[in-house]
Amino acid sequence: MSLARVGTPVPDADAPIGVFDSGLGGLSVLEALRTALPRERFVYFADTGHAPYGERGDDFVAARSSAVARELRDAHGIKALVVACNTATAAAIDRLRAEHPALPVVGVEPALKPAVAASRTGRIAVLATRLTLESRKFRALHDSLADRAQFSIVPCDGLAGAIERADDERIDALCERYLATAGRFGSRDGELDTLVLGCTHYPFIADRLRRHTGEAVRFLDTGAPVALQTRRLLEQAGALRGGDGVGDLQLLSSGERGVLDAAAARWLSAAPPVAVQAHGTLA
Ligand code: DGL
Repeated sequence: MSLARVGTPVPDADAPIGVFDSGLGGLSVLEALRTALPRERFVYFADTGHAPYGERGDDFVAARSSAVARELRDAHGIKALVVACNTATAAAIDRLRAEHPALPVVGVEPALKPAVAASRTGRIAVLATRLTLESRKFRALHDSLADRAQFSIVPCDGLAGAIERADDERIDALCERYLATAGRFGSRDGELDTLVLGCTHYPFIADRLRRHTGEAVRFLDTGAPVALQTRRLLEQAGALRGGDGVGDLQLLSSGERGVLDAAAARWLSAAPPVAVQAHGTLA
């Protein structure tokens, strides 16, 4: 075994990166990861059998996150874990880091800081799940920025579930309702000029949200920064996959297998190729 420092094993660069979400939303983060790290191998786990997480309790989400991470490490030998879910990050990231001290673990959180930097009117709308918004982590993030912008925060019950089911009618009704709740969008003083997509499902409905906000509003999600942070951690660990490695992807789901395949076909770009498609059955 090679050693970076005595007692610190160097992770196998050819091992895959594990990525998980309550369901399909994490594919938006996976897409950013595959773009930033085209030589890497990925295993994506959609916990579709237990989605949505956002209206469950912290204990449930933490227990599921822990079980999924264990499966990815034990059965797939992952070299890093990306928690591609704001809700699971809020409920479980500390526990996951404690349970896997040698594994680089990257989480996602609503992009409030970039929103403050980007907003001209100082008025920012935040859409996320109820569990994310009620978490201690989110409250701390919000409180640290509360004197720099005015946030209009909207828990979007039912929206991730409707996206999971591809229920367009319900998605449209909820987008209309939640954006009306947020307030008036636009680029004039007093208007919300920035929209934080605080759930990894929401980038997939950006077009539908856009119908209610107009073109001038800036949308922010966290796919690209998460991919950069993952690259940084792998670099630090000496575990980036180099050479002529061709990226590949394995898709796993605790739910109906066709749902994840269909979403991946619809939402992921073709390159690098989806070399392997298999399904896990973590109940
Ligand atoms: N995609 C998830 C997030 O970023 C959660 C959606 C859900 O399962 O409620 O929060």
